[in-house]
Amino acid sequence: MTKIYGPGAEDLDRAARILAEGGIIAVPTETVYGLAAHALDEAACGRIFEIKGRPLIDPLIIHIHDLIGAKSLAAWNDWAELLAHAFWPGPLTFVLPKQSIVPALVTAGLETVAIRMPRHPVMRKLLIKCNLPLAAPSANPFGYLSPTRPEHVLEALGENLEFILDGGPCEIGLESTVLDLCDPLGPAILRPGAISGWQISEVLGIEILVKTQSMPEIPAPVSKGMPSPGLMHRHYSPRTPLAIRPHLHEFCRDEALTNEKIAFIAFQKPTERPDFTDSAAKIRFFWLTEDGDVEEAARNLYDLLHKVDRMNFNQIFIELAPESGLGAVINERLLRASGSAND
Ligand code: TXA
Ligand code: MG
Repeated sequence: MTKIYGPGAEDLDRAARILAEGGIIAVPTETVYGLAAHALDEAACGRIFEIKGRPLIDPLIIHIHDLIGAKSLAAWNDWAELLAHAFWPGPLTFVLPKQSIVPALVTAGLETVAIRMPRHPVMRKLLIKCNLPLAAPSANPFGYLSPTRPEHVLEALGENLEFILDGGPCEIGLESTVLDLCDPLGPAILRPGAISGWQISEVLGIEILVKTQSMPEIPAPVSKGMPSPGLMHRHYSPRTPLAIRPHLHEFCRDEALTNEKIAFIAFQKPTERPDFTDSAAKIRFFWLTEDGDVEEAARNLYDLLHKVDRMNFNQIFIELAPESGLGAVINERLLRASGSAND
């Protein structure tokens, strides 16, 4: 029985009905697929944590259709006003003081709430149709790779989910930038994403702090003092062990080549394939982009890791992207996926 529907008018009607009745569905956004529930329905949001296996200390992002919706959930300020006009709808999440109608479960007991206006056309239609704020973390089991296609959601969470709304492959492929707008010292990036600190700084005319340090594997008792509680040390990981190898040529000299069943993911399609005739390893090559286009690499990252993760290799080695713009965001995710992000 199929669980992937739509996005025709009848499918959107059904999706909206399930949400209004307190159900959970998977939804497309321009960044990654989300696992959505009516954000003001505490029981429904509780099911999101259960389905994901997510600790209750890790708060959810609420998706809204318009500024009126945003202001009903969060105490607005001038930075939010300027940034919403510049980047919404789009891949930028604001952390602001919460209004009292937002259930404590959604914000994990914090006095702040994360909100975002997504720009995926199917998600926008759904938000209009259901006329509800939607809490939606990425639609993956906690700690696993984020989904960028409906099939990724089906494979990882299909057993516990009746309805996945199909919006095709995600346009960006990396989770939104999370920006703290509560700190009187100035706005601070808690999670890097497609909207860069430089772009934010241009709009606000001030310097943007970065507070993306990683968190311990088992988080401390309660979230106070965690800049962004979801940023655990290991996150976004495939099941196959993943390690970073800086360059293809260094990799070719690596003693790990005696190991069997290795996948190597290069950033860009290699111009010449290395010669492995002396090696016992059965190596398969993949790449994130044909010609070095960093946006294409970002779009492909989770999809390729999902594919390679299904192929039963003993080890995946992956090259970092060039460390600028979206490349730096890809690298931040890879360091977490391999468990080697700095504390
Ligand atoms: O692109 C995205 O943001 C996707 C799509 C579905 O919108 N959502 C997403 O949600 O990535 P999630 O739950 O996987 O990540 C949300 C991040 C977590 O790191 C969480 O700790 C942080 O946002 N966050 C949520 N509320 C927060 C708050 N009040 N203060 C600080 N960080 C918060
Ligand atoms: Mg996530």
